[in-house]
Amino acid sequence: MNVHDKTGGTPGVSSVAKLMLEGKACDMPVRSGTIGPDVIDVAKLYKDTGCFTYDPGFTSTANCVSRITYIDGDAGVLLYRGYPIDQLAQDASFLETCYLLMHGELPTAEQYVKFKKTITNHTMVHEQMTKFFTGFRRDAHPMAVMVGVVGALSAFYHDSTDINDAHQRQIASHRMIAKMPTIAAMAYKYSIGQPFIYPRNDLDFASNFLQMCFAVPCEPYEINPVMSRALDRIFILHADHEQNASTSTVRLAGSSGANPFACVAAGIACLWGPAHGGANEAALQMLEEIGTVDRIPEYIAKAKDKNSGFRLMGFGHRVYKNYDPRAKVMQATCHEVLDALGKKNEPLLAVAMELERIALHDPYFIEKKLYPNIDFYSGITLKAMGFPTSMFTVLFAIARTVGWISQWREMIEDPEQRIGRPRQLYLGEPKRDFVKFDKRT
Ligand code: SDX
Repeated sequence: MNVHDKTGGTPGVSSVAKLMLEGKACDMPVRSGTIGPDVIDVAKLYKDTGCFTYDPGFTSTANCVSRITYIDGDAGVLLYRGYPIDQLAQDASFLETCYLLMHGELPTAEQYVKFKKTITNHTMVHEQMTKFFTGFRRDAHPMAVMVGVVGALSAFYHDSTDINDAHQRQIASHRMIAKMPTIAAMAYKYSIGQPFIYPRNDLDFASNFLQMCFAVPCEPYEINPVMSRALDRIFILHADHEQNASTSTVRLAGSSGANPFACVAAGIACLWGPAHGGANEAALQMLEEIGTVDRIPEYIAKAKDKNSGFRLMGFGHRVYKNYDPRAKVMQATCHEVLDALGKKNEPLLAVAMELERIALHDPYFIEKKLYPNIDFYSGITLKAMGFPTSMFTVLFAIARTVGWISQWREMIEDPEQRIGRPRQLYLGEPKRDFVKFDKRT
Protein backbone atom coordinates (compact mmCIF):
# COMPACT_ATOMS: atom_id res chain seq x y z
CA MET A 1 0.00 0.00 0.00
CA ASN A 2 1.29 3.48 -0.75
CA VAL A 3 -0.05 6.88 0.21
CA HIS A 4 -0.04 9.73 -2.30
CA ASP A 5 -1.42 13.22 -2.15
CA LYS A 6 -4.33 12.92 -4.65
CA THR A 7 -7.23 13.84 -2.40
CA GLY A 8 -10.01 14.73 -4.81
CA GLY A 9 -10.77 17.66 -2.51
CA THR A 10 -12.86 15.62 -0.05
CA PRO A 11 -13.05 17.56 3.26
CA GLY A 12 -10.85 16.10 5.99
CA VAL A 13 -9.02 13.94 3.48
CA SER A 14 -5.28 14.68 3.59
CA SER A 15 -4.17 12.05 1.06
CA VAL A 16 -5.17 8.74 -0.51
CA ALA A 17 -3.88 5.23 0.29
CA LYS A 18 -3.82 2.77 -2.61
CA LEU A 19 -4.22 -0.93 -1.86
CA MET A 20 -3.25 -3.37 -4.63
CA LEU A 21 -5.12 -6.68 -4.22
CA GLU A 22 -4.76 -9.39 -6.88
CA GLY A 23 -4.01 -6.73 -9.51
CA LYS A 24 -6.98 -4.59 -8.48
CA ALA A 25 -6.32 -1.09 -7.06
CA CYS A 26 -8.45 0.24 -4.20
CA ASP A 27 -8.10 3.93 -3.29
CA MET A 28 -8.89 4.75 0.34
CA PRO A 29 -9.05 8.31 1.70
CA VAL A 30 -6.57 9.15 4.47
CA ARG A 31 -8.05 11.56 7.02
CA SER A 32 -6.03 13.68 9.45
CA GLY A 33 -7.00 14.69 12.97
CA THR A 34 -6.12 17.89 14.82
CA ILE A 35 -3.21 15.98 16.39
CA GLY A 36 -2.30 12.29 16.45
CA PRO A 37 -2.25 9.52 13.83
CA ASP A 38 -4.06 9.80 10.51
CA VAL A 39 -6.72 7.22 9.68
CA ILE A 40 -7.22 5.22 6.51
CA ASP A 41 -10.95 5.19 5.81
CA VAL A 42 -11.69 1.56 4.87
CA ALA A 43 -15.50 1.93 4.87
CA LYS A 44 -15.66 1.03 1.15
CA LEU A 45 -13.06 -1.77 1.29
CA TYR A 46 -15.58 -4.65 1.40
CA LYS A 47 -17.68 -3.14 -1.37
CA ASP A 48 -14.60 -2.54 -3.56
CA THR A 49 -12.61 -5.73 -2.78
CA GLY A 50 -14.95 -8.22 -1.08
CA CYS A 51 -12.49 -8.32 1.85
CA PHE A 52 -12.84 -7.30 5.51
CA THR A 53 -10.04 -5.82 7.58
CA TYR A 54 -8.93 -8.05 10.46
CA ASP A 55 -7.83 -6.45 13.75
CA PRO A 56 -8.78 -8.46 16.89
CA GLY A 57 -8.41 -6.19 19.95
CA PHE A 58 -8.67 -3.17 17.63
CA THR A 59 -4.94 -2.44 18.05
CA SER A 60 -4.90 -0.43 14.76
CA THR A 61 -8.56 0.54 14.44
CA ALA A 62 -10.28 3.88 15.01
CA ASN A 63 -14.05 3.35 15.23
CA CYS A 64 -15.18 6.96 15.57
CA VAL A 65 -14.33 10.63 15.33
CA SER A 66 -14.05 12.20 18.78
CA ARG A 67 -13.21 15.62 20.23
CA ILE A 68 -13.19 14.65 23.90
CA THR A 69 -9.93 12.99 24.99
CA TYR A 70 -6.55 12.65 23.32
CA ILE A 71 -3.80 10.22 24.36
CA ASP A 72 -0.23 10.14 23.05
CA GLY A 73 0.91 6.76 24.37
CA ASP A 74 4.55 7.19 23.37
CA ALA A 75 4.87 10.61 24.98
CA GLY A 76 2.68 9.76 27.99
CA VAL A 77 0.27 12.60 27.25
CA LEU A 78 -3.43 12.71 28.24
CA LEU A 79 -5.63 15.70 27.31
CA TYR A 80 -9.29 16.23 28.27
CA ARG A 81 -10.67 18.63 25.64
CA GLY A 82 -7.07 19.80 25.12
CA TYR A 83 -6.22 20.40 28.78
CA PRO A 84 -3.35 18.24 30.22
CA ILE A 85 -4.46 15.82 32.94
CA ASP A 86 -1.82 17.02 35.42
CA GLN A 87 -3.07 20.63 35.17
CA LEU A 88 -6.69 19.56 35.68
CA ALA A 89 -5.72 17.32 38.60
CA GLN A 90 -3.83 20.22 40.14
CA ASP A 91 -6.25 23.11 39.60
CA ALA A 92 -9.73 21.84 38.66
CA SER A 93 -12.50 20.11 40.61
CA PHE A 94 -14.12 16.88 39.44
CA LEU A 95 -17.40 18.66 38.64
CA GLU A 96 -15.52 21.33 36.63
CA THR A 97 -13.93 18.43 34.74
CA CYS A 98 -17.37 16.85 34.22
CA TYR A 99 -18.63 20.11 32.68
CA LEU A 100 -15.51 20.30 30.48
CA LEU A 101 -15.87 16.72 29.21
CA MET A 102 -19.59 17.12 28.54
CA HIS A 103 -19.59 20.61 26.99
CA GLY A 104 -16.08 21.00 25.58
CA GLU A 105 -15.10 24.13 27.53
CA LEU A 106 -14.23 24.93 31.15
CA PRO A 107 -17.31 26.45 32.83
CA THR A 108 -17.47 30.14 33.72
CA ALA A 109 -18.07 30.79 37.42
CA GLU A 110 -21.79 31.28 36.69
CA GLN A 111 -22.02 28.10 34.58
CA TYR A 112 -20.19 26.15 37.29
CA VAL A 113 -22.54 27.27 40.07
CA LYS A 114 -25.57 26.31 37.94
CA PHE A 115 -24.09 22.94 36.94
CA LYS A 116 -23.07 22.09 40.51
CA LYS A 117 -26.60 22.90 41.75
CA THR A 118 -28.14 20.75 38.99
CA ILE A 119 -25.96 17.76 39.86
CA THR A 120 -26.56 18.25 43.59
CA ASN A 121 -30.32 18.23 43.04
CA HIS A 122 -30.14 14.86 41.27
CA THR A 123 -28.13 12.98 43.91
CA MET A 124 -31.09 11.24 45.58
CA VAL A 125 -32.49 8.03 44.08
CA HIS A 126 -36.15 6.97 44.00
CA GLU A 127 -36.89 5.62 47.51
CA GLN A 128 -38.24 2.39 46.03
CA MET A 129 -34.75 1.61 44.65
CA THR A 130 -33.71 0.71 48.18
CA LYS A 131 -35.82 -2.43 47.78
CA PHE A 132 -33.43 -3.74 45.09
CA PHE A 133 -30.62 -4.09 47.58
CA THR A 134 -32.46 -6.52 49.83
CA GLY A 135 -32.52 -8.97 46.91
CA PHE A 136 -28.71 -9.25 46.95
CA ARG A 137 -26.64 -11.34 49.35
CA ARG A 138 -24.72 -9.14 51.77
CA ASP A 139 -21.46 -10.57 50.38
CA ALA A 140 -22.36 -9.80 46.74
CA HIS A 141 -19.50 -8.03 44.94
CA PRO A 142 -20.49 -4.33 44.81
CA MET A 143 -19.78 -4.26 41.06
CA ALA A 144 -22.49 -6.91 40.60
CA VAL A 145 -24.85 -4.67 42.59
CA MET A 146 -23.86 -1.63 40.51
CA VAL A 147 -24.58 -3.41 37.23
CA GLY A 148 -28.03 -4.41 38.48
CA VAL A 149 -29.12 -1.22 40.19
CA VAL A 150 -27.78 1.19 37.54
CA GLY A 151 -29.46 -0.85 34.82
CA ALA A 152 -32.67 -0.60 36.85
CA LEU A 153 -32.57 3.21 36.73
CA SER A 154 -34.23 2.93 33.30
CA ALA A 155 -37.20 1.35 35.11
CA PHE A 156 -37.62 4.50 37.19
CA TYR A 157 -36.67 7.44 35.00
CA HIS A 158 -38.83 6.91 31.90
CA ASP A 159 -38.87 10.69 31.34
CA SER A 160 -35.19 10.64 30.32
CA THR A 161 -34.81 7.55 28.16
CA ASP A 162 -35.75 8.99 24.75
CA ILE A 163 -32.28 9.24 23.21
CA ASN A 164 -33.58 11.34 20.30
CA ASP A 165 -34.63 14.16 22.64
CA ALA A 166 -31.64 16.41 23.47
CA HIS A 167 -33.33 17.66 26.64
CA GLN A 168 -33.89 14.09 27.88
CA ARG A 169 -30.28 13.21 27.04
CA GLN A 170 -29.18 16.15 29.19
CA ILE A 171 -31.33 15.13 32.16
CA ALA A 172 -30.23 11.49 31.88
CA SER A 173 -26.59 12.66 31.82
CA HIS A 174 -27.03 14.74 34.96
CA ARG A 175 -28.90 11.91 36.71
CA MET A 176 -26.17 9.38 35.88
CA ILE A 177 -23.32 11.57 37.15
CA ALA A 178 -25.24 12.55 40.30
CA LYS A 179 -26.68 9.17 41.26
CA MET A 180 -23.67 6.92 40.74
CA PRO A 181 -22.03 7.96 44.07
CA THR A 182 -25.32 7.50 45.91
CA ILE A 183 -25.87 4.00 44.50
CA ALA A 184 -22.21 3.10 45.09
CA ALA A 185 -22.39 4.22 48.72
CA MET A 186 -25.64 2.25 49.15
CA ALA A 187 -23.91 -0.86 47.76
CA TYR A 188 -21.09 -0.37 50.30
CA LYS A 189 -23.44 0.28 53.25
CA TYR A 190 -25.54 -2.77 52.31
CA SER A 191 -22.41 -4.97 52.24
CA ILE A 192 -21.49 -3.99 55.82
CA GLY A 193 -25.03 -4.07 57.19
CA GLN A 194 -25.19 -0.36 57.97
CA PRO A 195 -28.14 1.92 57.16
CA PHE A 196 -28.04 3.93 53.93
CA ILE A 197 -26.91 7.55 54.42
CA TYR A 198 -28.71 10.15 52.31
CA PRO A 199 -26.74 12.63 50.17
CA ARG A 200 -26.28 16.14 51.60
CA ASN A 201 -26.79 19.21 49.42
CA ASP A 202 -24.33 21.31 51.44
CA LEU A 203 -21.35 19.12 50.48
CA ASP A 204 -19.19 18.95 47.35
CA PHE A 205 -19.17 15.81 45.18
CA ALA A 206 -16.28 13.96 46.86
CA SER A 207 -17.16 14.99 50.43
CA ASN A 208 -20.75 13.88 49.86
CA PHE A 209 -19.57 10.46 48.70
CA LEU A 210 -17.27 10.11 51.72
CA GLN A 211 -20.08 10.91 54.14
CA MET A 212 -22.53 8.57 52.38
CA CYS A 213 -19.94 5.80 52.78
CA PHE A 214 -18.50 6.46 56.21
CA ALA A 215 -21.07 8.46 58.21
CA VAL A 216 -23.42 6.68 60.64
CA PRO A 217 -26.72 8.07 61.97
CA CYS A 218 -25.51 7.92 65.58
CA GLU A 219 -22.90 10.67 65.40
CA PRO A 220 -21.74 13.62 63.28
CA TYR A 221 -19.25 12.78 60.50
CA GLU A 222 -16.30 15.09 60.03
CA ILE A 223 -15.01 15.45 56.47
CA ASN A 224 -11.21 15.23 56.24
CA PRO A 225 -10.35 17.92 53.65
CA VAL A 226 -7.17 16.11 52.58
CA MET A 227 -9.17 12.93 51.87
CA SER A 228 -11.91 14.86 50.08
CA ARG A 229 -9.46 16.74 47.84
CA ALA A 230 -7.50 13.55 47.14
CA LEU A 231 -10.67 11.66 46.22
CA ASP A 232 -11.82 14.51 43.97
CA ARG A 233 -8.45 14.35 42.21
CA ILE A 234 -8.69 10.55 41.87
CA PHE A 235 -12.09 11.01 40.21
CA ILE A 236 -10.53 13.52 37.75
CA LEU A 237 -7.78 11.04 36.84
CA HIS A 238 -10.33 8.31 36.07
CA ALA A 239 -12.94 10.47 34.30
CA ASP A 240 -12.30 9.58 30.65
CA HIS A 241 -9.74 7.79 28.53
CA GLU A 242 -10.58 7.85 24.81
CA GLN A 243 -11.97 4.60 23.33
CA ASN A 244 -11.07 2.13 26.12
CA ALA A 245 -12.94 -1.16 26.44
CA SER A 246 -15.77 0.06 28.68
CA THR A 247 -16.29 3.28 26.71
CA SER A 248 -16.39 1.27 23.49
CA THR A 249 -18.98 -0.98 25.18
CA VAL A 250 -21.12 2.05 26.04
CA ARG A 251 -20.80 3.37 22.48
CA LEU A 252 -21.69 0.00 20.95
CA ALA A 253 -24.71 -0.44 23.24
CA GLY A 254 -25.76 3.14 22.50
CA SER A 255 -25.44 2.61 18.74
CA SER A 256 -28.46 0.27 18.90
CA GLY A 257 -30.54 3.04 20.49
CA ALA A 258 -30.45 1.54 24.00
CA ASN A 259 -31.24 4.03 26.78
CA PRO A 260 -28.28 5.70 28.59
CA PHE A 261 -28.86 3.87 31.88
CA ALA A 262 -28.64 0.49 30.12
CA CYS A 263 -25.52 1.64 28.23
CA VAL A 264 -23.76 2.74 31.44
CA ALA A 265 -24.71 -0.57 33.09
CA ALA A 266 -23.00 -2.33 30.16
CA GLY A 267 -19.95 -0.11 30.66
CA ILE A 268 -19.83 -1.02 34.38
CA ALA A 269 -19.92 -4.71 33.49
CA CYS A 270 -17.00 -4.31 31.09
CA LEU A 271 -14.99 -2.14 33.49
CA TRP A 272 -15.20 -4.93 36.11
CA GLY A 273 -12.74 -7.12 34.18
CA PRO A 274 -9.26 -7.47 35.79
CA ALA A 275 -7.59 -6.50 32.50
CA HIS A 276 -9.43 -3.15 32.67
CA GLY A 277 -10.92 -1.33 35.65
CA GLY A 278 -10.77 -4.42 37.87
CA ALA A 279 -6.96 -4.10 37.80
CA ASN A 280 -6.92 -1.73 40.80
CA GLU A 281 -8.52 -4.42 42.96
CA ALA A 282 -6.25 -7.10 41.43
CA ALA A 283 -3.14 -4.92 41.88
CA LEU A 284 -3.74 -4.52 45.61
CA GLN A 285 -4.43 -8.23 45.99
CA MET A 286 -1.16 -8.89 44.15
CA LEU A 287 0.78 -6.54 46.46
CA GLU A 288 -0.79 -8.23 49.51
CA GLU A 289 0.13 -11.65 48.10
CA ILE A 290 3.74 -10.52 47.53
CA GLY A 291 3.67 -9.17 51.08
CA THR A 292 7.32 -8.27 51.52
CA VAL A 293 10.07 -6.76 49.40
CA ASP A 294 12.18 -9.92 49.51
CA ARG A 295 9.48 -11.86 47.58
CA ILE A 296 9.43 -9.41 44.64
CA PRO A 297 12.01 -11.27 42.50
CA GLU A 298 9.85 -14.40 42.64
CA TYR A 299 6.87 -12.47 41.21
CA ILE A 300 8.94 -10.63 38.61
CA ALA A 301 10.11 -14.03 37.39
CA LYS A 302 6.51 -15.30 37.28
CA ALA A 303 5.42 -12.22 35.30
CA LYS A 304 8.14 -12.95 32.72
CA ASP A 305 7.22 -16.64 32.48
CA LYS A 306 4.58 -17.00 29.76
CA ASN A 307 3.47 -20.34 31.19
CA SER A 308 2.70 -18.88 34.59
CA GLY A 309 -0.41 -17.01 33.39
CA PHE A 310 0.60 -14.34 35.92
CA ARG A 311 0.88 -10.66 35.06
CA LEU A 312 1.93 -7.69 37.18
CA MET A 313 -1.44 -6.07 37.79
CA GLY A 314 -1.29 -2.30 37.44
CA PHE A 315 1.48 -2.63 34.83
CA GLY A 316 1.29 -2.26 31.08
CA HIS A 317 -1.20 -0.52 28.83
CA ARG A 318 -2.53 -0.90 25.30
CA VAL A 319 -1.81 2.74 24.49
CA TYR A 320 0.80 4.03 26.98
CA LYS A 321 4.25 2.81 26.01
CA ASN A 322 5.63 5.33 28.47
CA TYR A 323 4.69 6.18 32.04
CA ASP A 324 0.89 6.66 32.37
CA PRO A 325 0.65 10.39 33.25
CA ARG A 326 -2.19 9.54 35.62
CA ALA A 327 0.01 7.09 37.51
CA LYS A 328 2.46 9.88 38.34
CA VAL A 329 -0.32 11.99 39.88
CA MET A 330 -1.77 8.90 41.55
CA GLN A 331 1.60 8.08 43.13
CA ALA A 332 1.93 11.62 44.51
CA THR A 333 -1.64 11.47 45.84
CA CYS A 334 -0.86 8.11 47.45
CA HIS A 335 2.04 9.64 49.38
CA GLU A 336 -0.09 12.69 50.31
CA VAL A 337 -2.92 10.56 51.70
CA LEU A 338 -0.64 8.15 53.58
CA ASP A 339 1.25 11.08 55.12
CA ALA A 340 -2.01 12.80 56.14
CA LEU A 341 -3.25 9.59 57.75
CA GLY A 342 0.04 8.86 59.47
CA LYS A 343 0.43 5.68 57.42
CA LYS A 344 3.56 6.55 55.43
CA ASN A 345 5.19 3.37 56.67
CA GLU A 346 2.47 1.31 54.97
CA PRO A 347 4.32 -1.90 54.01
CA LEU A 348 2.34 -2.23 50.76
CA LEU A 349 3.73 1.13 49.60
CA ALA A 350 7.27 -0.09 50.17
CA VAL A 351 6.50 -3.25 48.18
CA ALA A 352 4.88 -1.22 45.37
CA MET A 353 7.76 1.24 45.10
CA GLU A 354 10.40 -1.49 45.12
CA LEU A 355 8.43 -3.55 42.60
CA GLU A 356 8.21 -0.49 40.34
CA ARG A 357 11.92 0.26 40.75
CA ILE A 358 12.95 -3.30 39.88
CA ALA A 359 10.52 -3.63 36.95
CA LEU A 360 11.56 -0.32 35.40
CA HIS A 361 15.16 -1.54 35.31
CA ASP A 362 14.36 -5.05 34.04
CA PRO A 363 15.06 -5.63 30.31
CA TYR A 364 11.78 -7.61 29.91
CA PHE A 365 9.65 -4.67 31.01
CA ILE A 366 11.83 -2.11 29.25
CA GLU A 367 11.69 -3.98 25.94
CA LYS A 368 7.91 -4.48 26.17
CA LYS A 369 7.47 -0.86 27.36
CA LEU A 370 5.56 -1.93 30.46
CA TYR A 371 5.13 0.92 32.94
CA PRO A 372 2.87 1.36 35.96
CA ASN A 373 -0.61 2.45 34.93
CA ILE A 374 -3.26 4.30 36.89
CA ASP A 375 -4.27 1.14 38.76
CA PHE A 376 -0.88 0.52 40.35
CA TYR A 377 -1.03 3.07 43.16
CA SER A 378 -4.78 3.69 43.38
CA GLY A 379 -5.46 0.59 45.46
CA ILE A 380 -3.00 1.49 48.22
CA THR A 381 -4.50 4.98 48.39
CA LEU A 382 -8.12 3.82 48.52
CA LYS A 383 -7.32 1.15 51.12
CA ALA A 384 -5.68 3.79 53.31
CA MET A 385 -8.82 5.95 52.93
CA GLY A 386 -10.88 3.09 54.39
CA PHE A 387 -12.43 1.55 51.26
CA PRO A 388 -12.49 -2.25 51.02
CA THR A 389 -10.72 -3.72 47.97
CA SER A 390 -14.06 -4.73 46.44
CA MET A 391 -15.04 -1.04 46.22
CA PHE A 392 -11.99 0.09 44.21
CA THR A 393 -13.50 -0.57 40.75
CA VAL A 394 -16.79 0.93 41.94
CA LEU A 395 -14.97 4.21 42.56
CA PHE A 396 -13.44 3.92 39.09
CA ALA A 397 -16.99 3.53 37.70
CA ILE A 398 -18.23 6.62 39.58
CA ALA A 399 -15.52 8.71 37.93
CA ARG A 400 -15.75 7.12 34.47
CA THR A 401 -19.51 7.69 34.25
CA VAL A 402 -18.94 11.25 32.96
CA GLY A 403 -16.59 9.87 30.29
CA TRP A 404 -19.06 7.19 29.25
CA ILE A 405 -21.91 9.71 29.14
CA SER A 406 -19.87 12.32 27.22
CA GLN A 407 -18.76 9.76 24.64
CA TRP A 408 -22.31 8.36 24.40
CA ARG A 409 -23.71 11.86 23.72
CA GLU A 410 -21.01 12.50 21.11
CA MET A 411 -21.86 9.20 19.40
CA ILE A 412 -25.62 9.93 19.35
CA GLU A 413 -24.96 13.39 17.83
CA ASP A 414 -22.41 12.12 15.25
CA PRO A 415 -24.02 12.01 11.77
CA GLU A 416 -21.48 9.34 10.70
CA GLN A 417 -22.44 6.90 13.44
CA ARG A 418 -24.63 3.84 12.64
CA ILE A 419 -25.33 0.68 14.63
CA GLY A 420 -22.00 -1.02 15.32
CA ARG A 421 -21.91 -4.40 13.61
CA PRO A 422 -18.40 -5.85 12.99
CA ARG A 423 -17.86 -8.84 10.64
CA GLN A 424 -15.53 -11.88 11.03
CA LEU A 425 -13.06 -14.25 9.45
CA TYR A 426 -15.05 -17.52 9.35
CA LEU A 427 -13.07 -20.72 10.00
CA GLY A 428 -16.04 -22.95 10.78
CA GLU A 429 -17.61 -25.76 8.71
CA PRO A 430 -18.69 -25.03 5.11
CA LYS A 431 -22.34 -25.84 4.22
CA ARG A 432 -23.30 -29.49 5.01
CA ASP A 433 -26.65 -31.36 5.11
CA PHE A 434 -28.43 -32.53 8.27
CA VAL A 435 -27.79 -36.17 9.31
CA LYS A 436 -30.62 -38.04 11.04
CA PHE A 437 -29.94 -40.02 14.25
CA ASP A 438 -29.98 -43.44 12.54
CA LYS A 439 -27.29 -42.27 10.10
CA ARG A 440 -24.91 -40.82 12.73
CA THR A 441 -21.95 -42.95 13.77
C1 SDX B 1 -7.00 0.26 32.41
O1 SDX B 1 -7.61 1.13 27.56
C2 SDX B 1 -7.57 1.99 28.56
O2 SDX B 1 -7.40 3.17 28.40
C3 SDX B 1 -7.77 1.38 29.95
C4 SDX B 1 -7.59 2.32 31.12
C5 SDX B 1 -8.68 3.38 31.16
O3 SDX B 1 -8.45 4.42 31.80
O4 SDX B 1 -9.81 3.11 30.64
O5 SDX B 1 -6.32 2.94 31.06
C6 SDX B 1 -7.69 1.57 32.45
O6 SDX B 1 -7.63 -0.72 32.10
C7 SDX B 1 -5.50 0.20 32.65
C8 SDX B 1 -4.91 -1.22 32.44
C9 SDX B 1 -5.20 -2.03 33.69
N1 SDX B 1 -4.85 -3.44 33.49
C10 SDX B 1 -3.81 -4.02 34.11
O7 SDX B 1 -3.00 -3.41 34.81
C11 SDX B 1 -3.74 -5.53 33.91
C12 SDX B 1 -2.29 -5.91 33.59
N2 SDX B 1 -1.94 -5.38 32.28
C13 SDX B 1 -2.27 -6.16 31.16
O8 SDX B 1 -2.88 -7.35 31.19
C14 SDX B 1 -2.01 -5.53 29.80
O9 SDX B 1 -0.89 -4.76 29.90
C15 SDX B 1 -3.16 -4.71 29.24
C16 SDX B 1 -4.42 -5.48 29.22
C17 SDX B 1 -3.35 -3.48 30.06
C18 SDX B 1 -2.77 -4.32 27.82
O10 SDX B 1 -2.79 -5.47 27.08
P1 SDX B 1 -2.35 -5.45 25.52
O11 SDX B 1 -2.16 -4.08 25.01
O12 SDX B 1 -3.28 -6.36 24.77
O13 SDX B 1 -0.90 -6.02 25.58
P2 SDX B 1 -0.60 -7.55 25.48
O14 SDX B 1 -1.48 -8.32 26.40
O15 SDX B 1 -0.58 -7.92 24.04
O16 SDX B 1 0.91 -7.62 26.08
C19 SDX B 1 2.01 -7.25 25.26
C20 SDX B 1 3.17 -8.03 25.83
C21 SDX B 1 2.84 -9.52 26.01
O17 SDX B 1 4.05 -10.24 25.87
P3 SDX B 1 4.34 -10.93 24.40
O18 SDX B 1 3.16 -11.85 24.12
O19 SDX B 1 4.41 -9.77 23.41
O20 SDX B 1 5.64 -11.64 24.59
O21 SDX B 1 3.49 -7.54 27.14
C22 SDX B 1 3.25 -8.58 28.11
C23 SDX B 1 2.40 -9.62 27.45
O22 SDX B 1 2.65 -10.91 27.99
N3 SDX B 1 2.54 -7.92 29.22
C24 SDX B 1 2.79 -8.14 30.51
C25 SDX B 1 1.90 -7.29 31.19
N4 SDX B 1 1.15 -6.60 30.34
C26 SDX B 1 1.55 -7.00 29.10
N5 SDX B 1 3.68 -8.96 31.13
C27 SDX B 1 3.66 -8.92 32.48
N6 SDX B 1 2.84 -8.12 33.23
C28 SDX B 1 1.97 -7.31 32.61
N7 SDX B 1 1.16 -6.52 33.34
